[in-house]
Amino acid sequence: MTQRTWTAGWIEPAQESTTPEPAYSLYEMFVLHAEPPAWTPPETRLWPAKLMKRGFVVADKPVRRATLHMTARGVYQAYVNGELVSDALFAPDYTTYDHLLMYQTYDVSGLVRAGENVWGVILADGWYAGRISQQGNGAQYGDRLSIMGELEVEYADGTSELVRTDAEWRSTTGKYVYSDIQIGEKQDLRLEDKAWASTAVAEGWDEVAEVAAPAAELVAQVGPQVRRREVLDAVKAWPEGDAIVVDFGQVIAGRCRIECDLAEGQELRLEHAEVLDAEGRFFMNIIGRNKDAADAFVGRGGHEVLEPDFTFHGFRYVRLSGWDEAAQGTFDPACIKAVVIYSDLRETGRIRTSDARVNRLLDNILWSQRGNMLSIPTDCPQRERAGWTGDIQVYAPTGCFFMDLHDFLVRWLDQVMADQLDDGQVVDYSPATKDLFASGEFLGAISSSGWGDAIVLVPWQLYREYGDREVLERCYDSMMRWHDFCVKSAAGAFLEEGEKEGDARYIWDTKFNYGEWMLPSYVMGNEGAGPIEAAAVTAPTIATAWLAHVSDVLADISELLGHGDAAAEQRAYAAEVRRAFADRFWDGKKLDADFQGCYVDALAFDMLPEAERAAAADRLVELIHANGDKLDTGFLSVSYLLDVLWDFGHEDVAETLLWQDGCPSWLYEVDRGGTTVWENWGAIASDGTVGALSFNHYAFGCVGDWIVRKVGGLALREPAWAEFDVVPAFVRGFESCELEHETAAGTIRVAWSGSGAGAREVRVSVPEGCRAHVALPGSDEVVVGAGEHVFAC
Ligand code: BGC
Repeated sequence: MTQRTWTAGWIEPAQESTTPEPAYSLYEMFVLHAEPPAWTPPETRLWPAKLMKRGFVVADKPVRRATLHMTARGVYQAYVNGELVSDALFAPDYTTYDHLLMYQTYDVSGLVRAGENVWGVILADGWYAGRISQQGNGAQYGDRLSIMGELEVEYADGTSELVRTDAEWRSTTGKYVYSDIQIGEKQDLRLEDKAWASTAVAEGWDEVAEVAAPAAELVAQVGPQVRRREVLDAVKAWPEGDAIVVDFGQVIAGRCRIECDLAEGQELRLEHAEVLDAEGRFFMNIIGRNKDAADAFVGRGGHEVLEPDFTFHGFRYVRLSGWDEAAQGTFDPACIKAVVIYSDLRETGRIRTSDARVNRLLDNILWSQRGNMLSIPTDCPQRERAGWTGDIQVYAPTGCFFMDLHDFLVRWLDQVMADQLDDGQVVDYSPATKDLFASGEFLGAISSSGWGDAIVLVPWQLYREYGDREVLERCYDSMMRWHDFCVKSAAGAFLEEGEKEGDARYIWDTKFNYGEWMLPSYVMGNEGAGPIEAAAVTAPTIATAWLAHVSDVLADISELLGHGDAAAEQRAYAAEVRRAFADRFWDGKKLDADFQGCYVDALAFDMLPEAERAAAADRLVELIHANGDKLDTGFLSVSYLLDVLWDFGHEDVAETLLWQDGCPSWLYEVDRGGTTVWENWGAIASDGTVGALSFNHYAFGCVGDWIVRKVGGLALREPAWAEFDVVPAFVRGFESCELEHETAAGTIRVAWSGSGAGAREVRVSVPEGCRAHVALPGSDEVVVGAGEHVFAC
């Protein structure tokens, strides 16, 4: 894409810099469990969003085209003559603003007119200056907001006009008392001049300041913008104390829209949460500094449609206070809607099985994906809302079934690469915040095995799903640098005592790694145990296994890109790691770290001598039985769990885990009313206790990929689905499954029904240019080309 050459300068509205938050570190939060320093109401320390505008004149002759190009440090909405130029939200998208900033281009031909025109902008803190860090700190990229843009009017006669952001602009504030992504937004409608964006600059507006351009590279918008994607009705509402609780029936990312009368000075307040407590009361499941997730509206006297503009929340329930029954009448839930917001991604996968609970699980997975694909792939849409590398790495195969994630993830990978450190480390989340770099003291690391590996595995997934070789080229240098860091780190290159000797160099135990993150037995209420403790006991095993795995994937990529020598080196290295792993961790019967996930990874990544793998699988099964036939796997092993069991002949155990509905299990969450996938399987404990946790984390939803492959029977063989397998495993408990997947080549459909050998029918629809390898019980594999095919088995 050709990038624009700019002549406009950057301008700042009159403003106060973001108020710094008192120091509060992750160490204080998670180790000392110290309360954050007292904080005051947002009104006292957040500043209003800014209104900015400039008039311009359009000649009285035919206009061929008018185009607006702009961006901001902050998030903006642009208007021409009072009309919003786009329905996109949260522009510019969240990038690693220190390095990369995207500008947007809008066709405004229909909005300009001969004579006087007005270009208006609302500018809010957004991710740039808002309080988005884990600790609730603000100004992660900067503490002052600014914009830059050009509006180009091209006339039919070939002449043109260019209006810029310059000293002619003026700024003021309006109805936005404050707007913060995490805290929420407050609007005082009494302060609104509805005509502000369509009228000439009036007295009282402030001068703007011309400021230096950011050092970040300015690039044209890549990938989809954020939009309102759906609107949900309330399913229920009930009084709770003086407030009203509204249930939308679905955990989402978004915000509410209310249409009602609002008296002058009357304040409506909406707090958002994902669950109710054990007694069915409204329960703020996300706690912490600046995680208010509350919006407020103050009336001016009149009928209003109220919706915040520069915030979003993760929620299913809303606690509405300030409703005045005497004046407004009984609250009618029809007046409130939940607006579902995420990036404008096309859905490309549908799957329905004969089982209602599994279907609900699949819906939950998709809803978690919707909730976590707002501008960047996030861990959760309410707490950190950060682009955690590990989460998307684990989830990407499932994610690419459900949606076309190509451009979205390519854009995100650019952030990952921009954030990469000089020594090759791929930091834990991207865009990286100022606080991420400062938080190393807490864990002693800001990168991890399985997380940083996203730089290898996400492009690999994009290559497989979309056949995009270019993304591999684009990321190759970063992959190599990350791998080099991992190899050196394992070898002890960064240890004070110096490099390790012999085989110890292949064991990655030299730094903090997340290991089996969110290991159920360590995070479900066990005294003295938690995710960090689980990392301590599992990380060397898990990190070493992943090191071999990623070396192999990198070798495949190297080979594909024509770097044969590098590929050979990486394979040889992986073999050394495997040998060292088996020597160090495996005694022929058990692994040192005797946890389910360690066996899963050891088997998934061929870490053990071939002849001894069955014994390891037996031990895995033993552990599962000992755990009441329940899984005990964390982020880095759960996606391989069912496959490993299956491949080692323990199909029945895999089926048991899939159908398990005690805690922890996928169906347990469904039975507990989950409408998304949870961060912690026990977020609602068996006794009903509700945890202050995220109820919208897609990582454990990675089982979706297994369900597509094994229950649905569709698996990729060659990049971009040029060749694929149709191998339904006829998993116990299903009588049918129907799926379709839109690929670049066309739509693949696989549907099977019937129970029992000889009574089943399998229908396959193969797009033009693709071939399906159909392997059904009782017959040899057949390869079929484009068209509809029906098989019996
Ligand atoms: C996030 C995760 C993330 C993890 C890394 C958590 O707080 O919510 O999903 O991957 O930290 O340790």
